Amino acid sequence: MAEDNLLNEIAAIVGRARRPVAMTGAGISAESGIPTFRGKDGFWKDEDVTRLATLEGFLADPHKVWEWYDWRRSQIRQTRPNPGHFAIAEHERLVVGRGGSFTTITQNIDGLHAMAGSHSVVELHGNIWYSRCLKACTTELTHLPSTPLPEYPPPCPRCGDILRPHVVWFGESLDPLVIEESLRLAGEADVMLVVGTSSQVYPAAGLPYVTKRAGGMVIEINLEPTELTYSADFSLHGRSGEILPDLLSRAREFAE
Ligand code: APR
Repeated sequence: MAEDNLLNEIAAIVGRARRPVAMTGAGISAESGIPTFRGKDGFWKDEDVTRLATLEGFLADPHKVWEWYDWRRSQIRQTRPNPGHFAIAEHERLVVGRGGSFTTITQNIDGLHAMAGSHSVVELHGNIWYSRCLKACTTELTHLPSTPLPEYPPPCPRCGDILRPHVVWFGESLDPLVIEESLRLAGEADVMLVVGTSSQVYPAAGLPYVTKRAGGMVIEINLEPTELTYSADFSLHGRSGEILPDLLSRAREFAE
């Protein structure tokens, strides 16, 4: 009963929001079969971050890093969006259809939000299906949709030098335009749904506080408490693939 009343209270807030934002992390893709990073079976438990997810590591052994990213690509290729992704895409359609705005700001590089039908998606950490010239002979991205790749590292189709994955590695800064856009969206959001992130990696982890400072509501959905839980207006603990469809279908009842 208490859970039901709480869900309806939160659903009313989400349903009435005109500029809601969803900020997602690896946890939303966990139910699609993609491991998280810091969970008990997370990537970083067994893999050497410095060798696989830094520019230095890439320059030291681009073959090995591409081999690992292409393995991750082949894993992701076998996955599909889950009900959590679809619920967010559906809520975007509802809000935009009623003259509001809805954007998903994601830390994920798997492309599953777009595959679920989300149109307005800001990819903070890049996208594993794209690459760019290491020598920056052009700012254009090279789309690498198929896996496995014929060779590691793949050559730049323009200058013949090597391509690097279009992802943000540790020690690298995010694209300033992407940061600017996500800060603007967070500052204008009347509600931010923070889904499946440990809220430890900045600048993403700072976005909910931008929303709070601007007077918006922060609603966390996570399997367990995180760094953000104490500051969130509401924190729902459970699987996002179960909570989001329920919460957002209730929110539909309150949508104006
Ligand atoms: N539903 C909801 N939350 C979940 C689920 C689920 N089914 N499964 C796991 N979680 C939660 C975990 O409790 C954890 O808090 O998702 C969170 C995943 O946290 P991380 O593994 O730290 O992933 P994330 O926060 O996205 O990492 C941020 O760090 O490694 C870098 O660039 C990488 O984008 C990544 C960034």
